[in-house]
Amino acid sequence: MRKITMLGTGLIGVFYTMAIHGQRSRDKVCVIYSRSEERGRKVAQDYGIPRSTTSMEDAINDPETDLVVIGLPNDLHLEAVRLCAKAKKGVLCTKPLGRTAAEAKEMLRLVEEAGIFHGYLEDLVYTPKTLKSLETVKAGALGKILWVRSRETHPGPHSDWFWNSKVSGGGAIIDLGCHCIEIARNYIGKEVMPIEAMCWAATQVKPIDAEDHAIGLVKYANGAIAQFEVSWNFRGGMDLRDEVSGSEGVIRIDHFLRTGFEVFTAVGLGEYVAEKSEASKGWIFPVGDEVNTLGYNHMFTDMFSSFENGTSPMETFYDGYIVNAIIDACYKSAQTKKWEPIQLDIWRGRTDIKEERVLIEHDADHYLVKEEKLPDGRKKIILKEKSSGKIIEKVV
Ligand SMILES: NC(=O)c1ccc[n+]([C@@H]2O[C@H](COP(=O)([O-])OP(=O)(O)OC[C@H]3O[C@@H](n4cnc5c(N)ncnc54)[C@H](O)[C@@H]3O)[C@@H](O)[C@H]2O)c1
Repeated sequence: MRKITMLGTGLIGVFYTMAIHGQRSRDKVCVIYSRSEERGRKVAQDYGIPRSTTSMEDAINDPETDLVVIGLPNDLHLEAVRLCAKAKKGVLCTKPLGRTAAEAKEMLRLVEEAGIFHGYLEDLVYTPKTLKSLETVKAGALGKILWVRSRETHPGPHSDWFWNSKVSGGGAIIDLGCHCIEIARNYIGKEVMPIEAMCWAATQVKPIDAEDHAIGLVKYANGAIAQFEVSWNFRGGMDLRDEVSGSEGVIRIDHFLRTGFEVFTAVGLGEYVAEKSEASKGWIFPVGDEVNTLGYNHMFTDMFSSFENGTSPMETFYDGYIVNAIIDACYKSAQTKKWEPIQLDIWRGRTDIKEERVLIEHDADHYLVKEEKLPDGRKKIILKEKSSGKIIEKVV
């Protein structure tokens, strides 16, 4: 049984608590930190948490707990990690780890020097669909991964601090891009170095200085490309979709907005349907079990089991740091309108991977370009002659 300190009583603090206390869980949030005494008391009462406090330090130093979960605005992650390192207590931090790579690097240094357990709470790599897809990719079913497209778009976040770029570290890229970047990195392979980034970002609708919409490309050492699409202007709910394209296959995932569960109601079922949904009447698209669909259950299982076994979880502060470094390059590229190198002061993956084309051998003299069955029943084979470089076609 793990006994947890939860920092934050907002959307994610409550989602995390629901996941940890879900089903017949043995794990328990024992103390919750909220800057508001009233809100802390309310959340403690709603979720059966024995203690609430308005002191972050007291919550972290609580003698009964052995792991701290950070669910606070982005500008408070570093301070919370510093206190955990001082208390020598294991720490799990929500995304993004830092507002910048420099902040994330400092958090990584703090936990490693203190020798404490650390996990990066990137829930979307733990959704049941993603875990199954990652297994499929690792088993080679898609061949070499060439392109990963990941999208998170919704009508914008739910609290004032997200809209203040000094507190949050940016706009839709830091808030949503962090998910997409780490999803793609998992499919392409964490040992493969991300090399450079190209990004378009704009403020199309919202009265803010940060970007409310962005599209980015991240190029990896093996030639694979990751594409993210993020927006705070998208209407109609939260659209989470991934597409993985390999030399031998494809995976397409719709995580949230259209999962095959559709309800029509003329009268409505109350206001809340699913996170960021905008309609509660007419055709609505509920999510069967949000906490599980979004990966929180599998994420905490990995985190707590790794803590108990003395192993590293799938996502650590190092991963959070790499994501921040990629985001830094994206912000720079959005300004310069050029491909920008990804600055990695710390890199623990491979350095010997080179860009490689996937060539399919047809026979000793030819590479296969394409094979296709035509509507009239013929089959065409398009080949490249190795000796002359000529492209030829055969009809069989
Ligand atoms: N899928 C995910 O992993 C996911 C989803 C949402 C949010 N998040 C992350 O979780 C963190 C919190 O986001 P949220 O959605 O819960 O935000 P929120 O605004 O709903 O909640 C933030 C919490 O921090 C408290 N807080 C705000 N300002 C504070 C201050 N100055 N001092 C002390 N406490 C303060 C609020 O009272 C609240 O309890 C962010 O880092 C965000 O990026 C992750």
